[in-house]
Amino acid sequence: MVTKKAAVIGYPVKHSLSPAIHNYWIKKYGIDGEYGLLETKPENLEGTLRGLKAYDYAGCNLTVPHKVEAFKYMDRITDAAKIIGAVNTVKVEDSGSLTGTNTDYIGFKDNITEYLSKHHPEHKMEKAVIIGAGGAARAVVAAVVAMNIKQIVVVNRTRDKAKILKNELSSFSMDGKDYSADIIIGNWKDRNELLENADLLVNTTILGMEGQNPLDIDLDYLPDYALVNDIVYRPLQTELLRKAEVRGNKVLDGLGMLLYQAVGGFELWFGVKPEVTDDLRKLVEGNL
Ligand code: ATR
Repeated sequence: MVTKKAAVIGYPVKHSLSPAIHNYWIKKYGIDGEYGLLETKPENLEGTLRGLKAYDYAGCNLTVPHKVEAFKYMDRITDAAKIIGAVNTVKVEDSGSLTGTNTDYIGFKDNITEYLSKHHPEHKMEKAVIIGAGGAARAVVAAVVAMNIKQIVVVNRTRDKAKILKNELSSFSMDGKDYSADIIIGNWKDRNELLENADLLVNTTILGMEGQNPLDIDLDYLPDYALVNDIVYRPLQTELLRKAEVRGNKVLDGLGMLLYQAVGGFELWFGVKPEVTDDLRKLVEGNL
């Protein structure tokens, strides 16, 4: 009999990579558990969440379109979920109450810091340019603020959305620590020149995804030592990463953030902090 269960709740949900990730770790760490899919229409979200305890779920992940709606049904919300404005991970407490958190911020941060400490420990992080100001950008900007990067430039096609993000993320408290940064808003038309002296460039928009246009950006101003991270993972090599790689930049695709964001949920539900390894990456790449 399976003792610990978790699942991803979404609509549609069948393309989710979370089952491959968590079931790999369940097997690797010899856990008596199972991670499944719970396809749930928006009108049934409350019922599914409230039913988790009765069906012996330790928790769940939430994906499109439930990440914001889910706030209503949480009994407790962590700082990370509040600051990012979305719940992607839920823990069912022993009492049956639901705690909503967000692991995207830590996933982005750990992916970058693990890569740099392993391969480029000398890499400085003084200026970051973040393209986009949507939902995904919030987790990325919160992370670069928490990484103490001095100069953070946010560039979005719709400038007003970048302004809102600046207002909300220039200073915040998370888990008892205070963070602040002077976020600069760049004009969309200046996105090429703004890359001057950048140590990190991140695409958080949907541009470059399968079925979308590539991100239209000229990398001539970007230093050749800069790290370029695209959070898009379908396809793994976006046009942005291809261009960056050709000119000798360090590149990180979007799968890393997805794998590292899964660590927090697994630990909450199954009590083991799992490792992101090359074997796991290969397995998940095969599911793309
Ligand atoms: P997500 O939650 O995945 O971040 P989102 O909140 O819809 O999705 O945000 C999408 C991001 O892609 C936004 O930064 C959006 O820019 P706008 O705020 O100007 O809409 C950006 N984006 C989408 N299509 C774009 C395009 N054709 N050119 C430039 N930016 C685009």
